[in-house]
Amino acid sequence: MSNVEDRQDTVRSQMLVDGYYADPAQRLRNVRALFNRTARYYDGVNSLFSLGSGAWYRRTRLRRAGVRAGVRVVDVAVGTGALAREALRLAGNDAVIGVDVSEEMLAIAQRKLGIPLIQATAEALPLASASADYVTMGYALRHVADLKAAFREALRVLRPGGRIELLEISAPRNKFSRAFAAFFIGAVLPVLSLLMTRDRRSSTLMRYHWKTILRYIPPDTVLSVMRESGFINVSRFSDFDLFHHYSGQKPKDTD
Ligand SMILES: C[S@@+](CC[C@H](N)C(=O)[O-])C[C@H]1O[C@@H](n2cnc3c(N)ncnc32)[C@H](O)[C@@H]1O
Repeated sequence: MSNVEDRQDTVRSQMLVDGYYADPAQRLRNVRALFNRTARYYDGVNSLFSLGSGAWYRRTRLRRAGVRAGVRVVDVAVGTGALAREALRLAGNDAVIGVDVSEEMLAIAQRKLGIPLIQATAEALPLASASADYVTMGYALRHVADLKAAFREALRVLRPGGRIELLEISAPRNKFSRAFAAFFIGAVLPVLSLLMTRDRRSSTLMRYHWKTILRYIPPDTVLSVMRESGFINVSRFSDFDLFHHYSGQKPKDTD
């Protein structure tokens, strides 16, 4: 098997997470159903997970990426609006559009942000070509079934020179850090979220997060897929080998 085939196989196989999807075709339906069922717990579970630093971290990464007043941002997989809210703070009103596949997540985002929201997938964005300065995506790469299609769509809706900014988590490579992350994210947080909400759906969401983190393609493979999809100036900034910020740019000489 060639390196490319090997990597494609890795990309496909790691998309499958035991107990959640039997095959890739079911992925979108199951992901949407999971986020619909657990939408009401997302913000609580998310603040447990980030120990309250989530908004600050998202805003800092967007600011460093150059998101500022006047730019147009499409936040893909907007969820309840955690990343979009920080983009709004930096870019101002009317600057941010959110897209997500889950109607329940979108309903919460609508109540919180009141920005234009569209129910659609990352792989088929119902948006005009060359209409955005930034395409952002927070913690959703792991859920997207066809990464290349999602990157192709991001490239299409970006204006030439526009930027893609992706935040994602991956399992640390160091075995001690990995064991700690497995214990904290995979075992402690599901119990804490169960205690907090008294509903098993919240701990299901947390366990699902850890399984997808554990199975996801390595950070360097994400960068390779971005490059293969047509992005240039691709880079990664990482904290603790756990939190990753991937950036890329649409070439200026394309439309
Ligand atoms: C972990 S939440 C992230 C929410 C938000 N971006 C944040 O920063 O917290 C993941 C979101 O991705 C959405 N999602 C999953 N697969 C998707 C896809 N293929 N296209 C669009 N949205 C998707 C889910 O419905 C969910 O709302």
